[in-house]
Amino acid sequence: MPAKKKAPASPKAKPKAVAAKKPTAANTKVKKSTAAASNPADSISSLMQENRLFPPSKDFSSKAHISTLAQLKALREKAAKNPVKFWEEQAKALTWFKPWKTALKWKHPFAEWFVGGKINISYNCLDRHVATWRRNKAAIVWEAEGGEQRTLTYQALLSEVCKFSTVLKSLGVSKGDVVAIYMGMVPEAIIAMLACARIGATHNVVFGGFSAEALRERINDSKAVAVITQDGSYRRGSIVPLKDNVDAALTETPTIQNVIVYKRVGSDVNMMIGRDHWWHERMMVPMAPCAPEPLDSEHPLFILYTSGSTAKPKGILHTTGGYITQVAYTTKMVFDLREEDLYFCMADIGWVTGHSYIVYGPLANGASIFLYEGAPNYPAPDRIWDMISRHKVTVFYTAPTAIRGFMRAGEQYPISHNMSSLRLLGSVGEPINPEAWIWYHTLIGNKRCPIVDTWWQTETGGIMISPIPGATTLKPGSCTMPLPGILADVVRKDGVSCGPNEGGLLVVKHPWPGMLRTIYGDPQRYKDVYWSDFAPTRTRPGYYLAGDGARKDKDGYFWVMGRIDDVVNVSGHRLGTAEVESALVSHKTVAEAAVVARPDDLKGSALVAFVTLKSGVDSEPSFLEQHREVLRSHVIKEIGHIAKLDEIRFTDALPKTRSGKIMRRLLREIAHGNVVTGDTTTLEDFSILEKLRQDEE
Ligand code: WT7
Repeated sequence: MPAKKKAPASPKAKPKAVAAKKPTAANTKVKKSTAAASNPADSISSLMQENRLFPPSKDFSSKAHISTLAQLKALREKAAKNPVKFWEEQAKALTWFKPWKTALKWKHPFAEWFVGGKINISYNCLDRHVATWRRNKAAIVWEAEGGEQRTLTYQALLSEVCKFSTVLKSLGVSKGDVVAIYMGMVPEAIIAMLACARIGATHNVVFGGFSAEALRERINDSKAVAVITQDGSYRRGSIVPLKDNVDAALTETPTIQNVIVYKRVGSDVNMMIGRDHWWHERMMVPMAPCAPEPLDSEHPLFILYTSGSTAKPKGILHTTGGYITQVAYTTKMVFDLREEDLYFCMADIGWVTGHSYIVYGPLANGASIFLYEGAPNYPAPDRIWDMISRHKVTVFYTAPTAIRGFMRAGEQYPISHNMSSLRLLGSVGEPINPEAWIWYHTLIGNKRCPIVDTWWQTETGGIMISPIPGATTLKPGSCTMPLPGILADVVRKDGVSCGPNEGGLLVVKHPWPGMLRTIYGDPQRYKDVYWSDFAPTRTRPGYYLAGDGARKDKDGYFWVMGRIDDVVNVSGHRLGTAEVESALVSHKTVAEAAVVARPDDLKGSALVAFVTLKSGVDSEPSFLEQHREVLRSHVIKEIGHIAKLDEIRFTDALPKTRSGKIMRRLLREIAHGNVVTGDTTTLEDFSILEKLRQDEE
């Protein structure tokens, strides 16, 4: 429940009516389109204003690591004055084999953190805890899609990691080699990652939903020497043939020497003699301690490929000491981690969220993580809620796309489970529209749990902008403010900071420890993509360009408006499509929406919306025809005439990447003229494209 209503920022923003009790978009109001006119050219117009405030509860704050706003402000100010010193203090929470000499070496745009220091991440995630009472604490509580359960204590996890490190070494994998991991969500995937980190091999986790072709490309680009995989993995009751995909990928991968196969499903697979090895056979080595390799702070920990555009995927390179410093610190502060938590991040380990906030951050803090193998709606739409109530999960972290999926399925599913163990919720991956935020808060958090909306990227390594739950007053849809030690801002094209509510580009003004070090094998592309728009000048340092549009409101809260590539130009105003989508989703019939632009002689661009309706909504053509008008008026009411939708197409599903991001690029092509070119290898379901092409107004 909103505790307090604030006066709107300006007369333009004045809400017509503020529904105090009803948790709908009724008090998400707008500055009518005139507001955009005051913005300088090239800035992005923001039309939406959300006025609800959710201060932390006394109960939550009193137990939190940071429990007052004053404390947080003081920390943020101190860190801003000397970010390097701030991060040095956080690095000291870890165990270093040898202390660093220089905290930051910065030769724009290449950073080195904690230079001269020696550290091992697997030591910090395992051995360190095993030396304490945490030895018998659950590190991983795992549930298979079929219901089977396993718990690994810190001691058990360390033993497995040591054994597997020995296996890797016995196959000739050594420090500096790249190892591809192509697995499902099983504890062995985490064991494989930690074993690589232990011996100093660099892992390249390839999402288990990717095709053989995508795997081959990533193996070749990273020059991996080995692949760790499974015979198959379970997904929605069927088997994904991982080993068959590996076989298909390995036809043209000259660097691969060994394949290790974990038997998960017992299916028939080909084993090539000399190249392929069963995990369980190799693991029958006598248990010998495998000492963690003392690694340079800048030793490469992992490469992770990000896609998105038409171009070749980028191999984002992360290193050791700085990365673990940022993820360990942010996990503790943002999730306000407590010893007794059972922490559940729903991401796949194939994404950076899985790396940083399933594996490394939580384990570095000695937390118990809950790991789930399968699909969130299998065998029924309440699977996640059922597991949360059975295992008594306390912290739950997921993405807006999943939340909208849960909303679409219906509130009867969460309502039928007791989720009173939850104390904190998190969101990541895209802007969370206020409607989904309120649903999450009400139905999952029972209005008790703070929501941390965390903004970051594969490139940033760890969370950058987020509430600190015991201190920050939340605004639905805002990721609030940069964390202490992170100097993020919203600027115009010339690098000058934007004024309140003026849309611009999200940048980071000072290097941070978890930042990507380069694009693997392509430092020039690294410079061009992230550092060339705001190169250093005589009066200011260079800025990191995140590629997102954003605005800061009068309280300094950040509102991310989506990727700059998704900005549309309508009648001279540059609009972030995320706001139009958010307005659509605030209508009670709409489950999900994507808005793109089509060139228009008159307006520059016409707005085309692809809309998925909630289950149970009438699908008769006559209803839909009328409903287009209803939705058009709704968006105008919410945002203003500038956002008049020229075309609305109803569809059963939207094309998404496998991590749940809507592929607006494909929708743009469809809206232009029904031909899709460019890379579609990251698309989750190809049949959707066919359906969209056929769906004409
Ligand atoms: C892009 C990065 C970070 C792990 C998952 C995604 C968008 C991410 C938020 C948020 C608004 C967000 C941005 C960003 N994004 N979190 N809380 N609010 N937008 O990693 O695939 O590298 O994507 O996701 O557009 O640039 P990624």
